[in-house]
Amino acid sequence: MMFITYFGHSCFMVDTGGKKLLFDPFISPNPLARHISLSTIQADYILVSHGHEDHTADLIELAKQTGATVISSFEIHSWLHKNGITNTHPMNTGGHWIFEFGKVKCVNAVHSNSLPDGTYAGSPMGFLIESNGGNFYYAGDTALHYDMKLIGDYKQIDFAFLPLGNNFTMGVDNAVIAADFIKCDKIIGMHYDTMPMIKIDHEEATRKFEATGKHLILMQVGETIEQ
Ligand code: NI
Ligand code: MN
Repeated sequence: MMFITYFGHSCFMVDTGGKKLLFDPFISPNPLARHISLSTIQADYILVSHGHEDHTADLIELAKQTGATVISSFEIHSWLHKNGITNTHPMNTGGHWIFEFGKVKCVNAVHSNSLPDGTYAGSPMGFLIESNGGNFYYAGDTALHYDMKLIGDYKQIDFAFLPLGNNFTMGVDNAVIAADFIKCDKIIGMHYDTMPMIKIDHEEATRKFEATGKHLILMQVGETIEQ
């Protein structure tokens, strides 16, 4: 069993049953997350899919505040060290590591990657997490790609976070195909509505998933659900 809290855009807290994993912290610049106060956020780990501002805006502040271990590409890890954050665990695509909460496998994401100051940030990644509470896939920012089939063949996934907003990532139609590739029926949407270019029609998106027998969850910012 896991508890998932949505902080807007692609930022989620997943409580795996004792350990809190925070993904892609972008909260304070997000107008849809104005009611979330950073100071209340706790985390044991912060996982960073890539370096873009809309995934890292609050990374340094929250890493300092929480003392969490940051899991990211080697290049983001190096950048964090230059910025005074030393509690890090560098990884790269294809690798896995066993942490106290479970296993993290870094998987392919088709996107670009740099840090807000222009520093090269390595390959963008998704994460496949196996824990006692269940298995899930956090896609990061990505296009639909055929390697997602490998994920579906490799592990049974209880739920997945997929980007839906189009323009910068895949949109709803491709996310429906992605859900099929990863063989997962429960999708939690991310990377939509934050700005005009990635606005989606919630009802239409939900209908498109339901039409293929899949369930789309569009969480409210600040909401916590149990999976
Ligand atoms: Ni991005
Ligand atoms: Mn993004």
